[in-house]
Amino acid sequence: MAEIKRIAVLTSGGDAPGMNTCIRAVVRTALYNGCDVFGIRDGYEGLLRNDMALLEAREVGGIIQRGGTILGTARSDEFRTEAGQAKGMQILKSHNIDALVVIGGDGSMRGARALVKLGLPVVGVPATIDNDMWGTNMAIGVDTALNTISDAIDKLRDTASSHRRAFLIETMGRNCGYLAVMAGVIGGAEVVLIPEAPVTIEEVAAKVEDAYKRGKTHSIVIVSEGANVLTTELASALEQMDVGFSTRITILGHIQRGGRPTAFDRLLASRMGVTAVDALLAGQTDVMMGLRGREVEPVPLADVVSKQREANLDYYEMAKMLAF
Ligand code: F6P
Repeated sequence: MAEIKRIAVLTSGGDAPGMNTCIRAVVRTALYNGCDVFGIRDGYEGLLRNDMALLEAREVGGIIQRGGTILGTARSDEFRTEAGQAKGMQILKSHNIDALVVIGGDGSMRGARALVKLGLPVVGVPATIDNDMWGTNMAIGVDTALNTISDAIDKLRDTASSHRRAFLIETMGRNCGYLAVMAGVIGGAEVVLIPEAPVTIEEVAAKVEDAYKRGKTHSIVIVSEGANVLTTELASALEQMDVGFSTRITILGHIQRGGRPTAFDRLLASRMGVTAVDALLAGQTDVMMGLRGREVEPVPLADVVSKQREANLDYYEMAKMLAF
């Protein structure tokens, strides 16, 4: 493989706290190794607009603690097409880019794979609050999102128990129940609804009513956005079924995607950014850096984009048991 002297970096898909920390790590590791680094704005969308610029060490100063991404991000329909991918490759070639680091979720890794197939060395870094990617125990941003959710649950519990209410709290995660399950364990929820384990409204109502009869002062129900029952539908059903508690809804929404990355996310993002550049310089490509056990290791991009991460139902059972 030709020597790597010019590395580009982009963030793509939904933003995640810690992306900036990772950009900083990529830029500084590349500069330390004598490479030029280009920041591509707005993910693949910006690449297709030819929107990129050289990044210097000082330009990534003061961002280690900032949520979001200074490069901007997007979900690009055009880049999903073969014509779009060929155009992107052409633009990268016109800047003599030797290699690329892609920071994002599974859609972003599919884009990375397309560029690998067109001949560009690419290493991916997993970043999405959903934690739905195969090949890494944790993606960048998950820990921060969980801390935000847990803080929200604590606050909602205060008001819930003062008024003897049930709170339905909706978490993000698309089709993956990871955030909801973990929120259930760390937030002490009575019930957790996730896409991977469908339930009926009657089952949920029975648990909430049971909690009321056992003298609980509140009931926390976590609903993953991809669950088989809609939060609003569940709320009106619980009101009608008279389960004891009156019901309120809080949809946490995009609050979960923002904020200062936690220490865990900063460390993970730094390690993944450094190892991604190291891997490229050592001649590796077509891999994503994954947290396996305590180590950050390369995993094949082909597996990341084709394999499904399995739901951890042990934690789901744990949340249920601890709700007693
Ligand atoms: O993938 C991250 C995520 O926040 C999902 O949890 C959610 O379904 C989706 O992105 C929301 O996307 P948008 O920011 O486009 O509304």
